Amino acid sequence: MTTLPDTVSGSDALASTDAGHPEWIWRSGSLVPWDEARVHVNAVGHASVAAVFEGIKAYRAADGRRLLVFRLDDHLRRLVDSARICRLSLPCDAETLHRATVDLLSANDYRQDTYLRPWAYPGGIVREQMVPAGAPCEVIIDSWPFSTSLDTSRGCRAGVSSWQRVPDAAMPPRVKAFSNYHNGRLALMEARENGHDWPVMLNERHKVSEGAAACIALVRDGVVSTPSLSSGVLPGITRDTAITLLRALGIPVEEREVDRSELYLADEIFFMGTAWEVLPVTTIDGLAVGDGTPGQVTRRLSQAYRALVRGEDDRFPQWITEVPLS
Ligand SMILES: Cc1ncc(COP(=O)(O)O)c(C=O)c1O
Repeated sequence: MTTLPDTVSGSDALASTDAGHPEWIWRSGSLVPWDEARVHVNAVGHASVAAVFEGIKAYRAADGRRLLVFRLDDHLRRLVDSARICRLSLPCDAETLHRATVDLLSANDYRQDTYLRPWAYPGGIVREQMVPAGAPCEVIIDSWPFSTSLDTSRGCRAGVSSWQRVPDAAMPPRVKAFSNYHNGRLALMEARENGHDWPVMLNERHKVSEGAAACIALVRDGVVSTPSLSSGVLPGITRDTAITLLRALGIPVEEREVDRSELYLADEIFFMGTAWEVLPVTTIDGLAVGDGTPGQVTRRLSQAYRALVRGEDDRFPQWITEVPLS
């Protein structure tokens, strides 16, 4: 394996740069050596505007004998959904991509926590202004190591953004398209400028939607509330996992419209996402959330999530794809 990037910390997984690379990348049906996975420079613009993708994590099992890809089929289903809304014709089905993911992890001989990014883009050079519906597509699966933050007591500072989350009627947030990240990127840059770590975006109704690349929830009086799926959010797989785990812990969860001012009265706030995992928010617009440290519900959820992804909790076998380590 070529020199790999140091590690990609959970919340920065999407911001990693190409400091190194694995030996193999999967491209539209076969494993290709990294250096041979090329496109013409003229293909970049149109391909990026129309591209859809997923972010998936494979965790090393607590027993050290397997990698456990978390909710692979749910991520691939969302990739297929994103492609459908964007009218991209994927060259292969989700079952093929499932097998390809397992093959890629084995070929690269990963032994540590690994981030996977399947993405689909119109291949070739497009001379028209818009990529036509049904244009031939390529699918790539890229991969790199990350280090989890689930074992730390980290927290983050969040700020409500002046940038609004794109509405479904303009650029559906339920599509995981690279283009949508222009919206989150503007909010992130503003947040950093204002001394926060991450933004919280409001939707066109001025209700809470999500972070730049993570869903959000708050806790008040023991009840967890998270913006509903029609609040301008990506239907987060971590959000769905968290709802299931919290309810199994006997903690009530509401999916509903959330007002900005509720954030200021919350006992706890946390982000949820594949990259973010469960990330406690310790200040919101400069106000301490609760006592300014990660709260009990967030910590219990984080522990339950860690047990699940490491294979210590076997109640949800349908969410785990095992890749044996040789
Ligand atoms: C905009 C946005 N919202 C939410 C999420 C969380 O989704 P998931 O839990 O499926 O990773 C992501 C993840 O990448 C995202 O990009």
